[in-house]
Amino acid sequence: MEKYRSYSKEQIISEIKRLKTEKNAIILAHYYVDGDLQDIADYVGDSLGLAFKASNTDADIILFIGVHFMAETAKILSPGKKILMPDLSSGCPLADSLSVEQLKAMREQYPDHVVVSYVNTTAEVKALSDIICTSSNAVDIVSSIPEDTPIIFGPDKNLGNYVKGLTEREMVIWQGACPVHLNFSYDRLVELKQKYPDAIVLAHPECDKQILLKADYIGSTSKIIKFSQKLDAQRFIIATEPGVIHQMKKANPNKEYIPLPRKDNKQSICVNMKKHDLAKALWALDTEIPEVNLSQDLIERAYRPIKRMLDISEQLGLGK
Ligand code: 13P
Ligand code: SF4
Repeated sequence: MEKYRSYSKEQIISEIKRLKTEKNAIILAHYYVDGDLQDIADYVGDSLGLAFKASNTDADIILFIGVHFMAETAKILSPGKKILMPDLSSGCPLADSLSVEQLKAMREQYPDHVVVSYVNTTAEVKALSDIICTSSNAVDIVSSIPEDTPIIFGPDKNLGNYVKGLTEREMVIWQGACPVHLNFSYDRLVELKQKYPDAIVLAHPECDKQILLKADYIGSTSKIIKFSQKLDAQRFIIATEPGVIHQMKKANPNKEYIPLPRKDNKQSICVNMKKHDLAKALWALDTEIPEVNLSQDLIERAYRPIKRMLDISEQLGLGK
């Protein structure tokens, strides 16, 4: 690993390109990772887009630059491929907030409920779920459940309440939350709107309800980015992890993007997404060591609810 730290950025990028061709590898990255990593990726997307890409590639190796549950989903969808991560310790506290035991207990308490789990869950929790959703398709997935069937939704309470509000469905919601989205400052949002009344507020549904009530548009990372590109506005306040601004700036460098700060006025960064860097990406591709592995049994159990989500999304023309 240390030897790559002495390489220049250009050297690292050219080595990554060479190894990608030599090993028939592709790089998939989430919008929250560093801009340099987004720029070397073959595809950058939200959780749903990344799942679709991982399920449909001829590559032998996927270098997945995102958090662990996303790479696990790629492994479940492409079990024959080698899934590498530049930093295997890149987890998601929201995904870890709901354990298998806790979900089992909920299922026992509400045996007639269908379990809709957010993709931000471990593979074990997915395996215990009836269907998976992402922030991009959560409303459609919940709406696809027969109307008289109540729902258990977890782990994100803000996404759950947002979906419940739009669908008016009976939902028991796990009280987990993402620290990055929970920490946005409502007071700073009010101040920013007063200072820039023309600014369009774009928010991820993992944000707290009071932030969502102030938003002009609520959507997944992909949807937020697309909205900022097509809307004829000059200034945006971004209520999600500021990594999304990289693609926004690339498409419209003259527009202004203001990341909504946290309550302590610092930027709300996903530290796990930021664990990856170019040198680690090269190391992973070269050594093929930080591999995501799951048992065959778990892959088979977790595949069914994910595939159900992909099939419904495909029928509805979502996520591609
Ligand atoms: P998206 O699916 O919208 O990219 O969200 C992933 C995520 O982890 C948000 O915090
Ligand atoms: Fe998890 Fe939040 Fe980071 Fe998304 S932003 S990966 S939900 S910790």
